Amino acid sequence: MHEKSFYDDTTLKNESKAPIGTIWTLLGKYVSDFSKPIMIASIMLSVAAGMVIGFGKFLSFCVNTGLLTKGSDYFGWILIGLGTSVVLLALASYARTYYISWIGEQMMARLRYDLFNHILKFPVSFFEEYQPANLVARMTSDMNLLQLVLTNSLGIFIRNALIIIGGIVMMAITSWKLFALSCVIVPALLLPVIYFGKIVRIYGRFAQSVLADLAQFIDETLNNIKTVLLFSHTSQDRASFHGYNTHFVQAVLKSAKARAKLVGFAMVLIFSGLCVIAYLGAEMVFEQTITKGDLLGFLFFAIAVCGALGSFSTLFADFYRAAGASDRILEIINISPPSQVITKTRAAKNHGILAMHQVSFSYPSRQESKVLDHLNLSVLPGETIAIVGPSGAGKSTIFSLLLKFYEPTSGSIYLDGISYQDLSPDTIRQQLGLVTQDAVIFSTTIFENLAYGLDTVNENDLWHALELVHLKKFVEGLPYSLQTKVGHRGVRLSGGQKQRLALARVLLRCPNILLLDEATNSLDAESDFVVQQNLKTLSKQCTTLVIAHRLSTVMEADKIMVLNHGRIEQIGTHKELMLCDGLYQNYANLEFGLSDASTGKAHIL
Ligand SMILES: Nc1ncnc2c1ncn2[C@@H]1O[C@H](COP(=O)(O)OP(=O)(O)OP(=O)(O)O)[C@@H](O)[C@H]1O
Ligand SMILES: [Mg+2]
Repeated sequence: MHEKSFYDDTTLKNESKAPIGTIWTLLGKYVSDFSKPIMIASIMLSVAAGMVIGFGKFLSFCVNTGLLTKGSDYFGWILIGLGTSVVLLALASYARTYYISWIGEQMMARLRYDLFNHILKFPVSFFEEYQPANLVARMTSDMNLLQLVLTNSLGIFIRNALIIIGGIVMMAITSWKLFALSCVIVPALLLPVIYFGKIVRIYGRFAQSVLADLAQFIDETLNNIKTVLLFSHTSQDRASFHGYNTHFVQAVLKSAKARAKLVGFAMVLIFSGLCVIAYLGAEMVFEQTITKGDLLGFLFFAIAVCGALGSFSTLFADFYRAAGASDRILEIINISPPSQVITKTRAAKNHGILAMHQVSFSYPSRQESKVLDHLNLSVLPGETIAIVGPSGAGKSTIFSLLLKFYEPTSGSIYLDGISYQDLSPDTIRQQLGLVTQDAVIFSTTIFENLAYGLDTVNENDLWHALELVHLKKFVEGLPYSLQTKVGHRGVRLSGGQKQRLALARVLLRCPNILLLDEATNSLDAESDFVVQQNLKTLSKQCTTLVIAHRLSTVMEADKIMVLNHGRIEQIGTHKELMLCDGLYQNYANLEFGLSDASTGKAHIL
């Protein structure tokens, strides 16, 4: 686990953007879509705030005129008015709470969708840098912090802001002198809020990023639990977990400490301020420069304003934490997926002709090492090309480029004569079907795994595909047949069954070009034989590229390419290659146990 530095003074200086500004950058674009509900919520907020201010004015009026004394003509009416106001306040508060939650939830749903949509636009290399569990944390725990602010804190903030504005105006109207004295207190209140708020933001963001690392760690450990147990790694994992956990708690506690200081400062300032105002006000009553009713009203407004200001300390802490979470979400949103100019949306003809011209490639994370080096390849319709070579030679990388998971560093790839530059990834992938050595199975039913990505499925086709991969009998024997659940990543299936299921899924799509990357390496001899026979028949209908370590599975290919260090070392049929001294002959001799490699006499033919 790498150490993260908490923060230093420079980090603090960099936190210059106001938290609301950061949240606005993230959510501002959705505001116009919710203008009507925002308007209703604003009216309700104003009514709720107006009622509070109105109540202060009413108190002052009552004391000044003695209206609330028993026997007054208006006593009954005033009680009715007060009751109505309370009901109105309750209704306005209800509507405000509901509408603000509604707007907040809708905005979050939009943001979540847009972020997910944005993430899906990235190429494979993006997911090498940003691990899936880390992205999940940004979409869940970071979003939760933001959601809390939108559905709860923001409403309270706006209402309190209105109370502050209304309260200040009323204070000024009620007594200029007392108001001028109060003005000294307000700026003093804001300074600690801003200072400690920044610290809350920094630690909040740090805690969120540690939480994301923790999520990633849990994800990896639990997904590879068998390996963890096999290597008796649980004690190390416990220690690592403890490390992440401690880091998280430290960051959260530092943030909590800053929040506590913020609240403490606010309380001291508010109450001392109120005491000073009350003292000065009492003196003014003695001097008869203010009436008792006005002092009561003034104190009511001052308490309302200070209470609202005091709530800002905790609200701002929420905003700063949400701003920290927004920073992490914005980090992803601000990365633009690579754009490409696609001039054609479809390949002209679905012939299945593939060509690679002088293709070189380095992985983005390892630019210095060339995985493919000026590679040329041409595959005609219906042809079967085998790619063999040592581990790490770049065989699977060729498939990744053919599937447009990565772009070549130089050179071009063509499908049916059209450059990959002019084809969208979807157009290309519709024509290609890939089966890999580590079959990807989803934790759903066999049916859903087979029908993955298909709009409509004919059950007969499904059974036919299962028959081709020698899996029909097995599925028929399962208690729920096609509807049987296969467990997390297909844990309830054997390696060979998973591989055959993945193969059936691809065959069901009838791709023009079939890419098989060690696709049958986990099969038993009988299944392998049946699948190989069926693939042979199928390969006459479609173009096939096969990567295999077992030469027996590729001997009958139309062409065999021997790849070494990203370059084609040999190319030809099995017979031709057996006659040449080289890598292929060595492999064949090792596999088939031939001793006279030098003569290259093809005993195995
Ligand atoms: N995502 C990646 N980022 C960086 N380097 C990678 C990545 N994937 C593969 N490589 C490197 O590229 C080289 C070629 O890998 P590739 O998977 O194409 O080999 P291969 O010929 O398919 O090997 P094998 O027979 O073992 O499957 C290797 O050196 C590997 O370490
Ligand atoms: Mg490989």
